[in-house]
Order: sequence, then C-alpha cells, then structure tokens
Amino acid sequence: MGRIILTGDRPTGKLHLGHYVGSLRNRVLLQNEGNFDRMFVFIADVQALTDNADNPEKVRQNIIEVALDYLSCGLDPSKVTLFIQSQIPELHEMTQFFSNLVTVQRLQRNPTVKTEMALRGFNADGGEDENRRGLPVGFFTYPISQAADICAFKSTTVPVGEDQEPMIEQCREIVRSFNGTYKCDVLVEPEILLPSNLVCRRLPGTDGKAKMSKSLGNCIYLSDDPKEMEKKVKGMFTDPGHLRVEDPGKVEGNTVFTYLDAFCEPDDFAAFWPEYANLDELKDHYRRGGLGDMKCKKFLIQVLNNRLDPIRARRHTYEQDIPGVYEILRQGSEAAREVAAQTLHEMKAAMQINYFDDTALIAEQAAKYRL
Ligand code: TRP
Repeated sequence: MGRIILTGDRPTGKLHLGHYVGSLRNRVLLQNEGNFDRMFVFIADVQALTDNADNPEKVRQNIIEVALDYLSCGLDPSKVTLFIQSQIPELHEMTQFFSNLVTVQRLQRNPTVKTEMALRGFNADGGEDENRRGLPVGFFTYPISQAADICAFKSTTVPVGEDQEPMIEQCREIVRSFNGTYKCDVLVEPEILLPSNLVCRRLPGTDGKAKMSKSLGNCIYLSDDPKEMEKKVKGMFTDPGHLRVEDPGKVEGNTVFTYLDAFCEPDDFAAFWPEYANLDELKDHYRRGGLGDMKCKKFLIQVLNNRLDPIRARRHTYEQDIPGVYEILRQGSEAAREVAAQTLHEMKAAMQINYFDDTALIAEQAAKYRL
C-alpha cells in the first residue's frame, strides 16, 4: 500500500517558529524526499470556525497568511496539493456518518478537547457565568470532523505537533469502527509523524513558557522581519541565575539554548562562530561560566536569519502575486475534492446507502411487491 501524507493548520493567525520546527520543516523534507504517493496540506477554516463562529473575518483574513507561510517555507504546489477545507463539502457528509460511531463520553475523554475547552471557558454542564460559556456542539465534535479530513484522503501519515496525538488516536478508532461496522476496508488507519528531535515537539515561547502561542504573546513569526525577530531574541528568557558573565550558567530550561537545539545546524559554527566546533562545546563554556547571554543571543539571531532569509525571500515573491496564491488553492481544492468524492462514494457503498446504484436492492424490492 502506498504512503499518503496529509496535514493542515487552522487559519487563526500567522504561523510561528513552533509550527516550523514542530511540523512545517518536516513537511518540506517529506516533500523533497519524494517517498510518498501523494501529499496534501490544507487550511482548516471549518475547524477554525468551531470556536470563531462570530468572527469569520478573522478566518477570512488568515487564509492568505497561512498560504503564504506554506509557500514561503518551500511547499511546492507542483508536488503537494494545497487546499481549503470548506471547499470540500464531502468532508461534512463523512463527519455526519462518523458522528454516529462516536459517543459523547469518548469525546469528553479526548485530552486535547479537554484542555482547549478549559482554555476557552467552554463548559458542558450548562452553568454559565462571566468566565464560562456554553460548549458549542461543532467545537465539541471537531475531532470527528478532523477524522473525516484524514480519512477522505486515505492518509497513512499525518505530520503534526504532539498536541494532536489524541486526534489521531480518535481517528484510528473511527476507522476501525467504520470498517468493522460496515464490514469493509475502505478506510485506512493513519500514523502520526512527530519530529525526531524532542525539543521540536513543543518549542517554548520567547518567555520560556511551555509553549509558543499567540494568546501568550511569546511568538516569533515566520513573517517577522529581521528587526522584529532580533528584538524578540534579545528579550528572550535565559537562566535567571546567570547574572554576571563569569557566573556558571544553566543550559536546561534556558530558552536560547533550547532554540539553538532546535535550529542550529553543524555549518552554523564555521560560518558565524568558529571559536566553537559545535553546540556541545558552546554549552560547556556556558556551564563553566565566562560566556555572556548577549553573545549567545547574537549567535542565535544569525542562525535564525540563516534559516529565515530564504523563507522571507520566497514570501516576498509570492506576496507580489496574491491572485496567483488563491489560484493555487483553488486548483488544489478541485483536485482534493475529486479524491474525497471517491472515498465518500466507497463509504456509501459499504454502508449500502447507494440506493440508485444498488441493482440487487431494487430487484429485491420489486420481487417483494410483484403480483
Ligand atoms: N487540529 C489541527 C490544528 O489545530 C488542524 C487540523 C485539522 C488537522 N484537521 C487536520 C491536522 C487533519 C492534521 C490532519 O493544528
């Protein structure tokens, strides 16, 4: 069986370095290795609306931001099908059929849903006050719709961040339930693909907090210009115990070193800081004392610029042809829709609700009533 890669992002903001090391960089590598039958990357606008129903303008504005982030990172529309979720109505039919196979209790146990509900003040017990809102049904059931996104393309491989693990697990259960209930092998169980470098699975924010996130205001965006990026790195959280240059410093929990772990490549030392052969030597010096934070930050700025400059250049080119970017998404959506329609067709046949194609059913009913 072939390998089909699929992943996507909600268009609720620009993508940041956490997205980059957590998944985007991996996607571009996968694309360039070419070791797959087909690759899909999509903008999950329907999912974004599950908690932004009152703000479609935010979603509408961010479609192009995410598309530009994709293209500027090097996703190539001649190799990858780029599409927009809402343009594939088949996904919603699938969601409806899947929702009959999932219990409310199972959704309530999904750890990502739980965390996100708490974050948004959504509560299921009906009680509402100024800090708590009712739970939108569409938000609560989005793992089912996400399973449809994955299944529609018979995806085998889903490169996403660690927080998406419960979604993939829930999707696998839905696949087993569908194939079992309708005695078929139409749907395929996907595997999650996480970055092998552990620090990349959850990149901390510039403030050292557990996660880079828009709501915490601790992000470096792929689209930040060099000045903005430099300012953010200079203000970055390091080791609060490392007061004077001579003091020994801690590398663990020191955001500058976490970022170096995530972004540094072997050649960066020869290019920007030849006094050290590699990151281990730099860390040893920092631990011993005698190495200032600002020097390390300046190096990190050079490393990041080295990664981001080609991304910025591609972004600049695509920004000058916005209608062309929408056209890429339109063509991708058309191509994706064909695939989803084929899967839906097979699902309906397995469920035997393809009445008009079911000559056996028509003959059986005719025989029952014939005088
Ligand atoms: N839930 C994902 C996120 O928040 C976005 C997403 C929607 C997705 N459908 C998907 C990711 C299918 C992978 C596969 O980032």
